[in-house]
Amino acid sequence: MQVDLAQAVLLLKQGDVVAIPTETVYGLAADARKDSALRQIYAIKKRPENNPLIVHIADENQVLDWAAEFSPLAQKLAQAFWPGPLTLVLPAKPHVSNILRANQPTIALRIPNHDNTLKLLQESGLALAAPSANTHTRLSPTTAAHVTADLGEDMPVLDGGSCRVGIESTIVSVEGNDWLLLRLGMLTEAEIEVVALKPARKNDKSLPKSPGQQLLHYAPKTAVELFNSRTALLDAAKIQKNCAVLMIGEGVVLNGQTFNLPSNPDEAAEQLYDILHRMDGVKADVLLIEFPPSGEAWLAISDRLNRAAYKGD
Ligand code: TXA
Ligand code: MG
Repeated sequence: MQVDLAQAVLLLKQGDVVAIPTETVYGLAADARKDSALRQIYAIKKRPENNPLIVHIADENQVLDWAAEFSPLAQKLAQAFWPGPLTLVLPAKPHVSNILRANQPTIALRIPNHDNTLKLLQESGLALAAPSANTHTRLSPTTAAHVTADLGEDMPVLDGGSCRVGIESTIVSVEGNDWLLLRLGMLTEAEIEVVALKPARKNDKSLPKSPGQQLLHYAPKTAVELFNSRTALLDAAKIQKNCAVLMIGEGVVLNGQTFNLPSNPDEAAEQLYDILHRMDGVKADVLLIEFPPSGEAWLAISDRLNRAAYKGD
C-alpha cells in the first residue's frame, strides 16, 4: 500500500513500520527508540533476534545520540561518504536498546542519500532503524513493487523510485584509529582507504564480524548455479530443459530465457536485484549465472551472487 510523506511520518510516530526508499535498497523502517516498533521489524522479516539493525539519521550531529565515541577517523569517513552507502559501526552508548543492537557493544549508523527519506527523517525528527525490507535470507528490494511482492499489499511503502546504488551499504567498523570491513558494498575498500589514510585491519577470528553475514542470503526462490566461464554456462544451458540464464554483457541462449547484466559494475549493481527478482518470476527449474570478472569494482556483486548460490556444506 503506497503512502505519502505525511502519512509515513504519522505511521512512524505512532510506532508502526513503513518501507522506505534509500539509495542502496528499500528499508523496513521504525522508530529506533521504540522497542515495540523494533520487535515488529524482526517479526515481519522473520529475522533472528541476534542480528542487529542499522539506525538511519539525518545529520552527523545525531551520531553521539547513539555512539559513545565518534573518533576522528570515523568523522573523516562520515564527512567523506555521508549521505551515502556507508554504514559505520561504532561503540554504542550504554542506554541504546538491546533489541536494536542485538546485545552487541556497538551500534550501526548511516545517513542515507535519498531525498524522500532525508525529508522523512527531518520532518519526523526520528532516527529510523531499518534493515532491508525483505523476508530474512531473500532478495533485497530495490523498488516499491519488490517490497509489496515480498511483504504483502498491507505493508505501507513510501515509493521513491528504483534505488540508484542497488546493493546494500558497505559496513565499516571503526574503533579509535582502526577500521575493519564488515560487509562489502559498492563503496570499495580502496575508496575508503584513500580517506582513512591507512589500510583496513584484516579480519581475524578475534575481531567482530557482522552477525548478519550468514552464507545463504540474498537468495532467489529458484536454485542458482554459478559459472566462471561463458563456455561452461552455455554448455549447461544446452542440457537444462527449463532454465533462465544471466550473462554479464551481451549474449543470448537459444533454449531458456536470457537476461543480461550490464558490463559496467555500477550499472550492474543497480539492476542486479531487479533482474534476479524477474528471473525468479519466470518459474525456471534453475538460474544459470555467469560469474562477474575479477577486480575490486565487482567484489560486492560477486559476494551477493555467491551467497545467493550457497547450498550448505
Ligand atoms: O544499505 C543498507 O545498509 C540497507 C539500507 C536499508 O540502509 N540496510 C541493510 O540492513 O542492509 P540489513 O539489516 O539488511 O543489514 C545490516 C547488516 C546486518 O548484516 C547486521 O548484522 C549488520 O548490518 N549490523 C547491524 N548492526 C551491527 C553492529 N552493531 N555490529 C556489526 N554488524 C551490524
Ligand atoms: Mg538485509
